[in-house]
Amino acid sequence: MEFEKIRDALKKGEGEKAKIRGWIYRKRKGGKIIFVVVRDSTGIIQVIVEKGKVAEEDFKNAKKALIESSVEVEGIIHEDERAPGGREIHATKFNVISFAEEFPITEYQSVEFLLDNRHLWLRSRKLTEVMKLKAKVLKFIREWFDENEFWEVTPSVITMNAAEGGATVFSFDYFGQKAYLSQTAQMYLEALIFSLERVWSLTPSFRAEKSRTRRHLIEYWHLEAEEAWVRNEENMKLQEEMISYVCQKVAKECKEQLEFLGRDPKDLMAVEPPFKRIKYKDAIKILQEKGFDIQWGDDFGAPHEKALVEGEDKPIFVTHFPAESKAFYMKLSPDKKSVECADMLAPEGYGEIIGGSEREEDIESMIERLKKDGANIENYQWYFDLRRYGSVPHSGFGLGMERLICWLAKLEHIRDATPFPRLLRRAYP
Ligand code: 4AD
Ligand code: MG
Repeated sequence: MEFEKIRDALKKGEGEKAKIRGWIYRKRKGGKIIFVVVRDSTGIIQVIVEKGKVAEEDFKNAKKALIESSVEVEGIIHEDERAPGGREIHATKFNVISFAEEFPITEYQSVEFLLDNRHLWLRSRKLTEVMKLKAKVLKFIREWFDENEFWEVTPSVITMNAAEGGATVFSFDYFGQKAYLSQTAQMYLEALIFSLERVWSLTPSFRAEKSRTRRHLIEYWHLEAEEAWVRNEENMKLQEEMISYVCQKVAKECKEQLEFLGRDPKDLMAVEPPFKRIKYKDAIKILQEKGFDIQWGDDFGAPHEKALVEGEDKPIFVTHFPAESKAFYMKLSPDKKSVECADMLAPEGYGEIIGGSEREEDIESMIERLKKDGANIENYQWYFDLRRYGSVPHSGFGLGMERLICWLAKLEHIRDATPFPRLLRRAYP
């Protein structure tokens, strides 16, 4: 008999044979009977190891094995309402593959301790469900790009351009030259639209953020798209369609994960186009009416973003931010003060999940804005070439995968949306 997944063993009927393997999740000992809950990647099942029903050696080992020991089990399925999943295995064989040492993680542990032991804490049910959800979301996003004629591309994360500003860039010595870890793949994606028209990529992005917040990682997975012949309004349409597609799919196909994480699938079913669009200047008025001390030109913090989505059950766009507060590549609006951009804010105060814009085509305007940031113009000549050789109106956007997961999974902190979070002063393990 082959090994089967616990999920499949749980579907079997009274008296059927089962053969599973995994790790000891919980254990309880009586005199002649040991209750062992075993976990694999698909679920948990209770195993009953009874003296006399298995070899003497197997019983001794079952008694000795601590949690997280790896085991192989053969036995007979018994239906029992009290067992998790309504079935248990009465073991005929209980083989310990590796006896675990005393597991350092017990029930109540500090956040720092769990981060120090992240490599072990990743076995927890919560992080497992989050990782499964993330994998599904990536699959759905891929489907959507595929159906909408986007090509996946693989840009470098080593660059000489600090597209999102010099303040949050990691620099390093690249054989005697100064290079950066990329903050965005955008500029490379822009180069690729001239052959492929619609492209997307998933790369790590790096931000040397000095702030310690629940929404910032130093390294995050950045999902970016760039589209030829598309202006700001159509760019927003693509984004709201993509996010709605993902929410609908997650609501239907990730019920187990959502339920465990405390997210009602109905919340996500409500996410459908169109999303509300608010101009930055009107957002400022709304915030002032809500009692915030904020003026035209000021950036939004978490409380502002939360106030703007109050009462909304799906994301909203805030558009036309002041040019000074945004990157050099965003197209200036006709008023020359604001830019053709849109931030997508998730409901419930999860904040900005997407930043996007139409791209500037005027080289002089970009140079002027780059100089204000103290950038080395020479390193941008290749980028200006894109405007020199057959430039077209184009737009794109960047989605922070972990920000999206935070919202979908109702996470308190972004660190739990990625297996090995890179945080201020933490790169271990
Ligand atoms: O708004 P940002 O900085 O935009 C860009 O980088 C554009 N070049 C993207 C593009 O148009 N191709 O970042 C995009 C998104 C944000 O909306 C946010 O979701 C996420 O990236 N993000 C972060 N996520 C986690 N930790 C951080 N420190 C993040 N900084 C940005
Ligand atoms: Mg942004």
